[in-house]
Amino acid sequence: MAGVPQPQVNLIPGCPRHVAIIMDGNGRWATQRGRPRLYGHHAGAKRVREIVESCPQIGVEYLTIFAFSTENWKRTQVEVAGLMSLFRRYIVKETRALITSGVRVRFIGDRLRLDDKLINLMNDLEVATEKNTGVHLTIALNYGGRDEVARATRRLAKDVADGKLLPDDVDEETLPRYLDTRVLPDPDLVIRTSGEARISNFLLWQSAYSEYEFVDTLWPDFTSDEFQHLCASYGVRDRRYGGVVG
Ligand code: FPP
Repeated sequence: MAGVPQPQVNLIPGCPRHVAIIMDGNGRWATQRGRPRLYGHHAGAKRVREIVESCPQIGVEYLTIFAFSTENWKRTQVEVAGLMSLFRRYIVKETRALITSGVRVRFIGDRLRLDDKLINLMNDLEVATEKNTGVHLTIALNYGGRDEVARATRRLAKDVADGKLLPDDVDEETLPRYLDTRVLPDPDLVIRTSGEARISNFLLWQSAYSEYEFVDTLWPDFTSDEFQHLCASYGVRDRRYGGVVG
């Protein structure tokens, strides 16, 4: 396209196909600046676009981000309400850019506890981007790994009770078909920012063989350069999946 600046493509050899990120450190980032925690969440939301845009340039096909956990309801009412409002505004503000840049958006997590307005926006964004063939962006909202496995097991048990599935047919191939992530590959690399080395109930089943990177950077300071560096480091790792050095 003449005259339209095209993003620079610089594919990383051995780039992880699916990267999942625990975006941690917004609150501390804001506190360090003497500002309320929500200020940090707003700064964190701005980073999301930069990281999403860098994915096709380096070869990441799937990006999954942890926006709100099933445990995050324990935060103050002000913070929870502020985050929910941020999610609504983020969807409204980013929809056009996500559609035009070919991003396919999905949400995982239990929607039942979310407010109707947010649920409708999430559904509309999924539908608006369902034909897109670019980066698969999955946003985990009211998501918890244990909750996901429990909900999946409940659905699976109903299928068994209805005679659609035999108990002996339940195995490592069957169960993931009931998870929220059923259409996604498992993450190759899980990144957590802010210096905490915990999984915090994120993609428990799916990350059984993922590589992990725990970095000190607080999420609002996490740049696409650091993201690319971590993806490049992944490219030289030797994943053995329980086997021996090849
Ligand atoms: C953890 O940092 C972050 C969250 C619970 C919210 C994540 C949300 C965003 C990055 C913003 C919006 C995202 C989207 C998709 C629009 P923390 O508050 O626990 O930080 P702390 O450990 O320093 O307190």
